[in-house]
Amino acid sequence: MNEGSASGHAAAKVNLRLRVFGRERDGYHSLETLFLRTSLCDEVRVEPGPPGVSLELHGDVDGVPGGPENLCWKAALGFAAAAGIPPAATVHLKKRIPPGAGLGGGSADAATVLRLLNRLHGDPVEDAELLKLAGDLGSDVPFALTGAAAALAWGRGQRLLAVPAPPARPGLLLVPEAPVSTVEAYGWLDEDRSAGRTLPDVEALRWRPEDLADWERLAELAHNDFEPPVLRRRPEIAAWKDRLEGTGPQLARLTGSGSALFAVFRDAGARDAAAGSLHDPAAAEGARLYPVEIPAPAD
Ligand code: C5P
Repeated sequence: MNEGSASGHAAAKVNLRLRVFGRERDGYHSLETLFLRTSLCDEVRVEPGPPGVSLELHGDVDGVPGGPENLCWKAALGFAAAAGIPPAATVHLKKRIPPGAGLGGGSADAATVLRLLNRLHGDPVEDAELLKLAGDLGSDVPFALTGAAAALAWGRGQRLLAVPAPPARPGLLLVPEAPVSTVEAYGWLDEDRSAGRTLPDVEALRWRPEDLADWERLAELAHNDFEPPVLRRRPEIAAWKDRLEGTGPQLARLTGSGSALFAVFRDAGARDAAAGSLHDPAAAEGARLYPVEIPAPAD
């Protein structure tokens, strides 16, 4: 690490449970979700200066914006405004988490930028303010900022409760070739609901604390309101979900608004066998497979 720079990991998340409610007046939907952190990470290094913001991308950069539309850039600007200093930061980002997959990679990168910049400047921005900045950047940023392995979230994702992490299990992320636009997926969900094709699941989420330690129970609670609207319009993702379920995981779900699916297995042998059987079709169809731990330990 260079003198005066700070670095950290930015972890991909999955939503073990995701329920989406109505669109609020600010244009965002309120939601209820259980986030789990995974071991798939980007690497972020932040250096102070020169004036302005610059971003250097490395690794799997396909589809990752390299300019002001990148959330890291927005995070650096937001931090400077909150700290009352002129923006002066260089962000080096080594990407592994695919964008447009519902894995919250861009959000995790932005959260890491906020955390590192605050540390580099001697923590001028208080935690509550940093969390607010994170919430303004996007729904997945506050969870990433907490560094927790598992958390329940409500509202736009900014009302958070870190919860005891379930025991880590071998998992698989399957990322189909074509991304899903989050904005479009929310539109599909609204369209289906107003056409009466799907109704929100209004059953209250009833957790007992011991549920979080029990993958049998977590498999029952696993749910994603985006699955019907997204899988209906993207049959190749539906087909991948069938194939993933066919490998015998404890659960397989879409994460966020997709396109990625995740599966949790009882042991590494079952996960490796699943990865082996999916390897050739994935390679043929441009899908990517990532063996991971779910959840990965907290920061
Ligand atoms: O949070 P994120 O930046 O990923 O959101 C992208 C878009 O998805 C938002 O601009 C909004 O249109 C939609 N969205 C929403 N409700 C949320 C989160 C996102 O309608 N809770």
